[in-house]
This record gives sequence, structure tokens and C-alpha cells, in this order.
Amino acid sequence: MLVVGGSASTSLAESISRELGNSPFTLPFKKRFPDGELYVRIGGRFEGEDVILVQSTRRDEDILELFLLEDAIREGGARSLTLVIPYFGYSRQDRRFFPGEAVSARAMARRLEVDADAVITVDLHSPFNREIFSKPMREVSGVPAIARLLRRRPVDLLVSPDKGAVERGQKMADLLHKPCISLQKKRIDSEHVEITLPEDAPDLHGKHVAILDDVISTGGTIVESAQVLRRMGAEKVIAACTHGLFLKDAFERIKGVATEILSTDTLDNAAERGSVAPDISAILRERLASEHGGTGRK
Ligand code: R5P
Repeated sequence: MLVVGGSASTSLAESISRELGNSPFTLPFKKRFPDGELYVRIGGRFEGEDVILVQSTRRDEDILELFLLEDAIREGGARSLTLVIPYFGYSRQDRRFFPGEAVSARAMARRLEVDADAVITVDLHSPFNREIFSKPMREVSGVPAIARLLRRRPVDLLVSPDKGAVERGQKMADLLHKPCISLQKKRIDSEHVEITLPEDAPDLHGKHVAILDDVISTGGTIVESAQVLRRMGAEKVIAACTHGLFLKDAFERIKGVATEILSTDTLDNAAERGSVAPDISAILRERLASEHGGTGRK
């Protein structure tokens, strides 16, 4: 098995290779031609290998690199190609709201999976995105990685910042045996939200709370949520997410209201404290064992 780390996910790819018992790991060579076009080359031999390609699709250039790496692996004679997309960018437009719009999540899924045998991704933006792949797809939850961090901290209450995060909050509540409440969120625009506490919220005075979201993007949701919880008496507020985008000054703004910021390693960022590598590796081992019966060719 060979793990290939795309440039958007080098450290997570390396952690996955370690989790797989120090499976061979490589970082492709990459350069730009004078006209700006990208060139990639994967060193070593991968003919007949099960190749795991790890690359988040955060920036447009990451997507282009991914297409080229998939081509190199497929045409280089790999036995199988499993594509791991830790952060599936372009997944927020998951439906057509107005005529003429592209559904970017679907457009991406169709093209990314062409050269892959299977796709593994982490905490998709919405349930609609579970239906857009036609190849076998597994969604890893970021909850266990954050739970491993929260277990080592005194947390009294878990908080979902909106309805979409309720399932995640409940999963965490089950793992940590803590209560969970859900806030009400009204989005004003792409950077601003209004957050309110439910009427039946418990007394928050002196409590240590952890807000759990799938993505922290502009930080609007987390900052507003933390402010509401603080106003209601919470003593410590942890802001935790799977995917830490932290756009513009989001990190600084959150630091102003939260005691601690925690994120997994699906994206490189300053709050990366937990890893999804064990959870991704468990699925990879399971998948490859069932595909090849543990040994030998398919
Ligand atoms: C919303 O559906 C998501 O779960 C996040 O709450 C949202 O993307 C966070 O964005 P921001 O940090 O810009 O408020």
C-alpha cells in the first residue's frame, strides 16, 4: 500500500501512513511551467500497488493537482486508487436554488471520482452530499477526533450552534456522556448570523461549555454563539470544529471570546490539535481487506 500526500494534505497523509503501520509514503514533485501550467510527478514504482491519495480540495489549484495525481496513479498501473478528501471544498452549493446555477458539490464529485475506485471524506457539509458520488463512498466523522480532545478537558455542556449541527452534538453527547443543547441560528448574510438560546436552556453560570461545528469559516457562527453563552454566565467556552478554514481575522476574533480553539487536521491551521488519521485508517484497512481478501489480487 502506498500513501501519496497531495500538497494540501501532506501532514495528514503522513499521519495516515503511520497509522497504517508505516506504510510507504511519498510526496509528489510539483512545478509550474513558464506559462503557469502545473506539472506533477510521483517518484518510485506503484504498478500493482493499492494507492491512497490524500488531498483536500480547498483551493482551485488543489483540485487541479488532484486531477493530475489521479491520472499519474491510474495510468501508472496502480491496482487500486482510493481517494481521501479530508476537506471536500465546493460542497456548500449542494442544491440548485435558482435556475441556471451549478451544483458545485455534484460537479466536483462526478469529476473527482472518475479515476478513483472509492472515495473517503470527512464530515460532509450536508446529507445531500452523501448521494452525489456513484463510486463507493465512506464519510468519516470528525466527532471521535474532537471527543479524544474534549475527554481531557472539564466540559459540562455541549452546544450545537444550529439545527444542522444537532446530529454531531448528539453523537458527541453519546461519546462523552454529557448533555447537549442546540442554539437557534438565523443567517443574515455570508459573514453575519443571529444566535439565540432556546427557552429551555439550562443555567449556564460557572459552566464549561464546548461549541461543536463542522466548519469554522468566517467565524461568525462561533463568535456569536460564544458571546451568547458568555452573556448567560458560561465561565469557559471551547470552540471546536472538524474543518478549520479560519478566513480573514476569524482566528483572532474567536480568540477574543473563546477560552480555547480546537480543530482536526483535515485542513492545516493554527488550532489543529486532533487527528482524523486513526478514523480514516480504520476505514482504509477495512476497505482493502474486503476488496482483496487481505492478500493477493482482486
Ligand atoms: C453552517 O451550515 C455550517 O455548519 C457552519 O456553521 C458555518 O459554515 C460556519 O461558517 P462561519 O464560520 O462563516 O459562521
